[in-house]
Amino acid sequence: GLQACLFDLDGVLVDTAKYHYLAWKQLANSLGFDFTELQNEELKGISRVESLKKILTWGGLDFPQERQDELASLKNSWYVEMISEMKVDEVLPGSFELLEELRTNQIKIALGSASKNAQLILDNTGLTPYFDAIVDGNVVSKSKPDPEVFLKGAEMLHISPSGCVVFEDASAGVEAALRATMKAIGIGSPKELSKAHLVVEDLTKIQLKAIQNLF
Ligand code: G6P
Ligand code: MG
Repeated sequence: GLQACLFDLDGVLVDTAKYHYLAWKQLANSLGFDFTELQNEELKGISRVESLKKILTWGGLDFPQERQDELASLKNSWYVEMISEMKVDEVLPGSFELLEELRTNQIKIALGSASKNAQLILDNTGLTPYFDAIVDGNVVSKSKPDPEVFLKGAEMLHISPSGCVVFEDASAGVEAALRATMKAIGIGSPKELSKAHLVVEDLTKIQLKAIQNLF
């Protein structure tokens, strides 16, 4: 049965997916091109370095690694500026209620995010105290859809993957959960997240009962 819930951060608990998009768009525009919201879906859940590589491909550009590192830092400085002002009111609806319900029922809670800025966001929004384990971009070496981020989370919680559910807004993240042999709940559009065991619009639409029913 259900023993642990692993949460992606950006786009699941907080609406930072929009800030990532704005900052990448600003970077692409500064290089003389643009990309669509559909292309942006492909950036969700993947690391900063890999996101930049995809964007440069879309723009038909290629730079030496050193220049790429500079561009990634530039995007991150804009992004950090956007998130450093974040407060508890930017936590997405239903998040606190679900986390409380899980805690009350002794279900373990972990973060599984590709972001190196995860701790700053959790601290700014008051989410940190809910987590029994935090796996972020500073500790994983392989980007989603590789299952590493979620397998590490389960390991830190001392819980088998078969007792875990992952909450994800990115199709790469849903795939990572499935490869980790965990249940996956998609947050967002059923079309983008069709591989998930269940898709809901947001966290207000899911309760413990429905999560347990996946097992
Ligand atoms: C998450 C987001 C991605 C982002 C990645 C790295 O997975 O969904 O859009 O690129 O984290 O975030 P960072 O804050 O380290 O640049
Ligand atoms: Mg996400």
